Amino acid sequence: MTLRVGVMTGGGDAPGLNAAICGLGRRLIAAGAELIGFEDGWRGLIQDRTRSLQDANLQHLLVYGGTLLGSSGDNPYRKPAEMVPKVLATVARHRLDALVAIGGEGTLGAADRLFREHALPVVGVPKTIDNDLAGTDFTFGFFSAVEVATRAMDDLRSTAESHGRVMVVECMGRHAGWITAYAGVAAGAEGILVPERPAHVEELCDRLVRLRQSGAKSAIVAAAEGARVFEGGTCLSSSERDEFGEYKTGGTAALLAQRIQARIGWEARHLVLGHLQRAGRPIAFDRIFALRLGARTARLVLERRFGYMAAMRAGEIIEVPLQEAVAERKVLSAQFLDRYESFFLPIGGL
Ligand code: F6P
Repeated sequence: MTLRVGVMTGGGDAPGLNAAICGLGRRLIAAGAELIGFEDGWRGLIQDRTRSLQDANLQHLLVYGGTLLGSSGDNPYRKPAEMVPKVLATVARHRLDALVAIGGEGTLGAADRLFREHALPVVGVPKTIDNDLAGTDFTFGFFSAVEVATRAMDDLRSTAESHGRVMVVECMGRHAGWITAYAGVAAGAEGILVPERPAHVEELCDRLVRLRQSGAKSAIVAAAEGARVFEGGTCLSSSERDEFGEYKTGGTAALLAQRIQARIGWEARHLVLGHLQRAGRPIAFDRIFALRLGARTARLVLERRFGYMAAMRAGEIIEVPLQEAVAERKVLSAQFLDRYESFFLPIGGL
């Protein structure tokens, strides 16, 4: 009997998704399995929308950004009574022996619940530019996003210097500061503000004033979209919450640029890098990383070991229970922040 395997990509896209499909598909098809792609994440399973991957040229797929399957933020657990039976019915209709869910916290959280609550034969592949998934050192897409943000900060140096300005650059990452921290350190940013530590306008401005007194004409500040900005003990960031009860992110760079200029009179501009960080082709590392994760996932499927995801630890591709990956958000550790403390705020001096 031919093994029938479904695959979907959910949540925000990340460079490397196609490479993961490539690694998975080539290994499975070589083993004689049939691969069925579901379109637009969980939505494709809810609405039973498929596309065959059997004839796709998987070999060259790995170079492209985005996902050939499409993606969405739909999640069957938003309306479990209605949606979960639809997902289960689609899986039964296609007589799937396994379902591969490629995604972040939301997608893998649903996959884990479907595995535990309904014995759905699921294997996960971790993906997010935010790098906030536990159980794996890194997620593919993260380093491609870091590259975009680093280059943007590098490039902004010349215009900042020409005009004697502070450029505040907002990076994605939701409630984790991974992209901001890595890109900020790599670009030598004069200030880095991440959600893991409260960002005080006074401290940032003191630092900028000292910088200017020491002869600097310009400065780059890397600000995470999820950083919480305080001034005079008051939080200036939005107190609006999203559907998960978490603070809405975004607007950090505009807020900081405005406060810097008003407080110390140093002309400031802001730039939101936004979806550019998810766009374009994956860097070589992410292509190979995602390819390896896909191939290991195929092995899990062929061995019928469900409820796991492929992950990276210390450079090796390993397997971890899905439950471990979704148990908690992985944020920057205090150890990491302390190691780079001269870059981060609060600061101990230049
Ligand atoms: O989780 C990935 C991510 O790119 C976050 O960094 C960002 O906050 C969010 O998705 C943006 O989502 P959307 O594509 O729905 O605007």
